[in-house]
Amino acid sequence: MTSLLLSAMNLLIMASWCWLQASCGRQVVFDVTDFGAVTDGETDNSKAFVRAWTEACAAAGRPAVVVPSGDYLLHPVVFRGPCRGYVEVRVAGVVRAPAGLDAFRGYHEWINFAGIDGLLVTGNGTFDGRGASSWHLNDCPWKPDCIPPPSSIKLARVRNATIDGVTSLDSKFFHVVVAGSHDVEIRHVSIRAPGDSPNTDGVHIQGSSNVRVTDSAVGTGDDCVSVGPGSADVTVSGVSCGPGHGISVGSLGRRPGEADVRRLRVSNCTIAGTANGVRIKTWRGGPRPASSAASGLVFEDIVMRRVRNPIIIDQEYCPYISCHHQSERPPSVVKISDVKFRNIRGVSATQVAVKLSCSAASPCRGLELRDIDLRYVRRGVATVSRCANVAGGVTGGTLVPPSCI
Ligand SMILES: *[C@@H]1O[C@H](CO)[C@@H](O)[C@H](O)[C@H]1NC(C)=O
Ligand SMILES: *[C@@H]1O[C@H](CO)[C@@H](O)[C@H](O)[C@H]1NC(C)=O
Ligand SMILES: *[C@@H]1O[C@H](CO)[C@@H](O)[C@H](O)[C@H]1NC(C)=O
Repeated sequence: MTSLLLSAMNLLIMASWCWLQASCGRQVVFDVTDFGAVTDGETDNSKAFVRAWTEACAAAGRPAVVVPSGDYLLHPVVFRGPCRGYVEVRVAGVVRAPAGLDAFRGYHEWINFAGIDGLLVTGNGTFDGRGASSWHLNDCPWKPDCIPPPSSIKLARVRNATIDGVTSLDSKFFHVVVAGSHDVEIRHVSIRAPGDSPNTDGVHIQGSSNVRVTDSAVGTGDDCVSVGPGSADVTVSGVSCGPGHGISVGSLGRRPGEADVRRLRVSNCTIAGTANGVRIKTWRGGPRPASSAASGLVFEDIVMRRVRNPIIIDQEYCPYISCHHQSERPPSVVKISDVKFRNIRGVSATQVAVKLSCSAASPCRGLELRDIDLRYVRRGVATVSRCANVAGGVTGGTLVPPSCI
């Protein structure tokens, strides 16, 4: 009798320990279809998704929001933290955005993960932004004061987050935005949009630190990865990029008071059929110039295939049709220093394979070109490099084209 009582008490203690720790090996699952989600591809599932998220977010341990196979229409949602445990979002289905922009009034993103510490988005599922239905409504390519269409997925003020395995398709604007976030890894993802789709950057990082983008395929109509103001300790590795505008730092120098870009490493990447390979872009100055800096950048072990500007620093960046007034503006005061280009080889689609176009007001310092072998796509015609306002640097190893530093 006593031993029975004891073992019953034991069970009770174990059960409550399990409940408290939620660490009994079983993951608590919040399946969106149990919260009313339907896979007809026509009903808005945002309420069901948010309910599943809210319950998972309140659970301890490692709860999972599960999106099974099927086709889910999802209007804009905010998955808000802080959460009690480490939340997993496991997607096997196709999650589709509403067509056009009408459903997005008041939203800057389609799916916004906000204020979360501990997040994993994983699975073989797809986030389909259905951008083809709204790209013609995006006036940002020619209107500097445009209202940008919504980005597909945003991590905002998120810490310790991983996005693994999922596909992002045809975003209306950027595919993935990492902002005000720290300790983020994006790996094994596939990001795709047509080469002529406007502003469909693959991964855009700003105001964030310790961000890694690895072993992923990105092909879009804009930068595959863009590293904007306030980014520090960013790694891009094992990324295949193209079509698109390449892997870019910037644009910088647009807003007064913007933060610097510090310590970026781009390595082991293949860039194919893009407008640029590796690029640093800054705007010219204006009435209130932004004097931010970009330094400690390494671009290493990169293969270029038919890239128009394989290596480019452009301190007169301006993508708008109105840019012919640009030359009247004062030169950029953004400071570019300590930038290494190492072991970059392959084929340039133009003769100017290396273009280091720095600012007269703020010459580039501490550039390095080492083991560069970039051949022109037409055999027998040599590639060249062009420098402007490069205050100094070092070179070494093979240099095709010959260095202009
Ligand atoms: C995606 O993952 C789910 C769950 O793990 C699996 O049942 C399904 O077969 C997978 N789909 C594909 C296309 O691999
Ligand atoms: C991230 O969360 C996981 C799971 O809770 C934990 O094991 C890991 O230590 C955390 N990492 C960081 C950098 O906080
Ligand atoms: C380079 O990236 C590829 C994926 O694109 C990966 O398979 C390979 O292991 C990486 N190599 C190194 C040295 O990191």
